[in-house]
Amino acid sequence: MSASLSRPRVGVWLIGARGSVATTVVTGCAAVTAGLHPPTGMVTETPAFTGSGLPALSDLVFGGHDTLDCPLPKRAEALTAGGVLPPGVATAVAAELAAADREIRPGGPTPGDTRSEAELITAFAGDIRDFVHRHELERAVVVNVASTEPASQGPHAPLPASTLYALAALRAGCAYVNFTPSEGMHHPVAAAEAGRSGLPHAGRDGKTGQTLLRAVLGPMFAQRALTVRAWSGTNLLGGGDGAALADPAAAAAKNAGKERVLADTLGTVPEGEVHIDDVPALGDWKTAWDHIAFDGFLGTRMILQTIWQGCDSALAAPLVLDLARLTARAHETGLSGPLGALGFYFKDPVGEGPSGLGEQYEALVRFARSLGEDKEGRR
Ligand SMILES: NC(=O)c1ccc[n+]([C@@H]2O[C@H](COP(=O)([O-])OP(=O)(O)OC[C@H]3O[C@@H](n4cnc5c(N)ncnc54)[C@H](O)[C@@H]3O)[C@@H](O)[C@H]2O)c1
Repeated sequence: MSASLSRPRVGVWLIGARGSVATTVVTGCAAVTAGLHPPTGMVTETPAFTGSGLPALSDLVFGGHDTLDCPLPKRAEALTAGGVLPPGVATAVAAELAAADREIRPGGPTPGDTRSEAELITAFAGDIRDFVHRHELERAVVVNVASTEPASQGPHAPLPASTLYALAALRAGCAYVNFTPSEGMHHPVAAAEAGRSGLPHAGRDGKTGQTLLRAVLGPMFAQRALTVRAWSGTNLLGGGDGAALADPAAAAAKNAGKERVLADTLGTVPEGEVHIDDVPALGDWKTAWDHIAFDGFLGTRMILQTIWQGCDSALAAPLVLDLARLTARAHETGLSGPLGALGFYFKDPVGEGPSGLGEQYEALVRFARSLGEDKEGRR
């Protein structure tokens, strides 16, 4: 990605770099930088973030790991055909896609991989360090946007790939963001290492659709003293995420975050479940229904139903860019540990913080202001 050499540049190392979200991140960043599209959906481009000292979009350099070898321009072509990317954009930013593609290294473990966990962590960390050195980057943020893994297998099972990458990020001296429900830095081994590292981290699982609505509606029911009797939800989606979530163990990891939002905002866990159905024909387009049964005055029974129809990668990509910029700046100002103030972005936030979206937004803006007040930071 082209950028002024006089300004410090920041790396964004994407785990799952050839996926839908990652491809939309790289394409979108280049398109907005070139003035081809406005930064719709990027909270960090709104006035409240002007003085926060965040790296400019034009100063971000992309690389990453993936276990697939489909070239990024081809992925962008497929996303254009699916209506995720607008026509012409992938062609207009072909040079930036090709540059990011050259920085993608083979991930792992792949089937038949004989490397030990220690060898994998060393290899991943080496790739990240090499990227930072070759591009003379000020720092890099590692962002997990790889396929959702099955829910935790317990502390004695082999480390999940997401945790190997999280440990590699720490080894390479990078801040870390987990945009997925996978274990990553939540694994006890990584959590202990993160505590010692002095590096900031954020996560987990981006809040882009159904859970975003739940974080608004949950506080509404609680503040109006209405009793929620049941809250049920169904999601239909395709694409790589739909296929990964067809595995009940992976879906369980995802649904735990969706249910946490209700428990935190309502103070109780209402009856009802969340289902995720893989519908390959829908591609990246998701439909999420929620059915909320609640009691009003004198026990009068009522129902609210919501229908969310979104394009998942278009919802996620601006948030990934926001998170990379905020976490890089947090690292620059010397912050370490879980960044609870970024709970606005996540279903299952790390650290301390409120659960309703309104309060989460206020906490985020306060955090952004504090990043700007840091006198040590160089921006
Ligand atoms: N789109 C959203 O709104 C949204 C919201 C929250 C979370 N997420 C999460 O973001 C992630 C990415 O979603 P997507 O739609 O881009 O999925 P995708 O299937 O298109 O992309 C995932 C990529 O990860 C790669 N991958 C799998 N295992 C890997 C490994 N061990 N090492 C390196 N790469 C690996 C795959 O090859 C693929 O290219 C998912 O976990 C999803 O749950 C997405």
